[in-house]
Amino acid sequence: MLGYIWQHLFTSFLRFWLKWFLRHITGKCELQRICSRYKQGAQRTTRAEYSLESSKSKVLRTAVSVDENQVEECAITIMTEKKVATQKDPTFKMNLQACLLQITGYKRLYTSVEDLRKQAFDGENNRHENMLLKLWDLLVPSVKLESRITKQWGDIGFQGDDPKTDFRGMGMLGLTNLVFFSEKYTDVARRVLSHSIHPKLGYSYAIVGINLTEMAYSLLKSDMLKPHFYNTVSQNPKLEHFHQLYCYLAYEFDQFWIKEKPESIMEFNRYREKFHEKIKGLLEEPDVSLCLAVESNL
Ligand SMILES: *[C@@H]1O[C@H](CO)[C@@H](O)[C@H](O)[C@H]1NC(C)=O
Repeated sequence: MLGYIWQHLFTSFLRFWLKWFLRHITGKCELQRICSRYKQGAQRTTRAEYSLESSKSKVLRTAVSVDENQVEECAITIMTEKKVATQKDPTFKMNLQACLLQITGYKRLYTSVEDLRKQAFDGENNRHENMLLKLWDLLVPSVKLESRITKQWGDIGFQGDDPKTDFRGMGMLGLTNLVFFSEKYTDVARRVLSHSIHPKLGYSYAIVGINLTEMAYSLLKSDMLKPHFYNTVSQNPKLEHFHQLYCYLAYEFDQFWIKEKPESIMEFNRYREKFHEKIKGLLEEPDVSLCLAVESNL
């Protein structure tokens, strides 16, 4: 424990002097050095985020959680605090602002995702009901649902006669992802559905989809999606970008499943874990970008 404390103190001490030294040599503060050395993306934003969070100044530490409409004002305050003159570093303000939008946007995205997840599917809510019916029509347009409660839901991979019990911990987030994928990538989604009803390699399309929503959600919650969003969304990531990531997972999981040829759906746990590890591996690459390599139809 004591060793750890000393090591921590020593590192902070070293960091402080190194920053002081570099500031005097280069005439630039750490954030300026980060912005001029790295181009926009995870490399830059991750470093800026760390620099802000570990700063001695409260203005910098709180900058990572300001509101979207305070980002510009916050960048100006940071420049005043760090005595950065605009004439000397004309691009700094814009770059810092872009970093701040991404950093604060990720936190807001998590809040929006969490709000949607906590919304349970409500059969009394017309909007919820219509989304569910829309999912059916998008996936199997040639077949009419006989009634709202029917065994037919099993054809798109729900478990019971009424899908509302299948969303469990993922609530409306699970349904919204399923609908987004089917609406934006209709052909791809139908192809994935057709693979899922394969007699040997089949799996429950909707149930697995809801499970992949949980994977996306937990990756977001543990901050592992930061590099992906910092690389792929130049401003603040929004719900739509999260749904887009879900589409990537749904498509890639299907490809993975077919390639791995599991004995049966009983092996789902094992292959889910293997797929999860694969995604986490990709997310460790600084240049990661988990984008679906197919055309959207919208
Ligand atoms: C997803 O699958 C894993 C492994 O089977 C399981 O532990 C987890 O509870 C599932 N999550 C959801 C939301 O179905």
